[in-house]
Amino acid sequence: MIPEPLKKELLARVASAITPREAAVDVMKELQRHYGWLTDEAVGEAAELLGLSSLQVEELATFYEMIYRRPVGRRVIHVCDSISCWSVGCEAVMTHLQNRLGVGPGETSSDGMFTLIPCCCLGNCGEGPTMMIGDTLYGRLTPDRVDEILEKERAEL
Ligand code: FES
Repeated sequence: MIPEPLKKELLARVASAITPREAAVDVMKELQRHYGWLTDEAVGEAAELLGLSSLQVEELATFYEMIYRRPVGRRVIHVCDSISCWSVGCEAVMTHLQNRLGVGPGETSSDGMFTLIPCCCLGNCGEGPTMMIGDTLYGRLTPDRVDEILEKERAEL
């Protein structure tokens, strides 16, 4: 259930949006932050806040790759596999992450810390290979740099 202060804040955001759909991603992201992922309950709550049907929210949720409709780790690692990052070695970064975390694409490490997800362009094409963890973008990745970042992220959890 959404805590009352969060509900109030989200209703204010919906009210200030031109259309409810404009606020939908914001609402889904906040509910995802609250629950850890966008649960069925959260979809229903988002629908109520936005004045949309659950099906409409579900459709929007499946369109955005940063909205998770199943449980994820405490940190989600999005690794860009679009053309610019691919040309500078994103596959090696992905392989390194898979080996380090013991997971395949879309899977969560056994300690529940990290979920690894390949994704489309993150808008950091000039500094690839790129990945994003939470709201932080990391560019010019090498295996060593990936290890440093994982260590840093673990320390912050
Ligand atoms: S192609 Fe990777 S950030 Fe754009």
